[in-house]
Amino acid sequence: MLGRLNHVAIAVKDAEKAAKIYGTAFGAEISAAVPLPEHGVITVFATLPNTKIEFIQPLGENSPIAKFVERNADGGIHHICYEVPDIIAARETLVKEGARVLGDGEPKIGAHGKPVLFLHPKDFSGALVEIEQA
Ligand code: CO
Repeated sequence: MLGRLNHVAIAVKDAEKAAKIYGTAFGAEISAAVPLPEHGVITVFATLPNTKIEFIQPLGENSPIAKFVERNADGGIHHICYEVPDIIAARETLVKEGARVLGDGEPKIGAHGKPVLFLHPKDFSGALVEIEQA
């Protein structure tokens, strides 16, 4: 059920500033900044031929990445996102295998307008994992 690597997310204080060098030095296509209030982040994407880099910046007082950015003042890799064909089927299998789904366990609409879930880093070798329905 594991599909493509959809993106690697880097959490920073300023997503547009962080993405800039990917455009100027690497020649990557850089998206506009998009606020996602439901997720408490502002996102900017750099598009690579085989995946994307998602720069996320805290938005609002209760941003789930506020503490991470506080602890990592220069920014840091925050999560990796895998595509799955069916997010509900994936969730059922993951839970059955002992993985913990974060939040209320119900998919939210992510940065690409598709349902996403986050999985507990302790169940994935210390890496926060996002799954997105392809
Ligand atoms: Co993401």
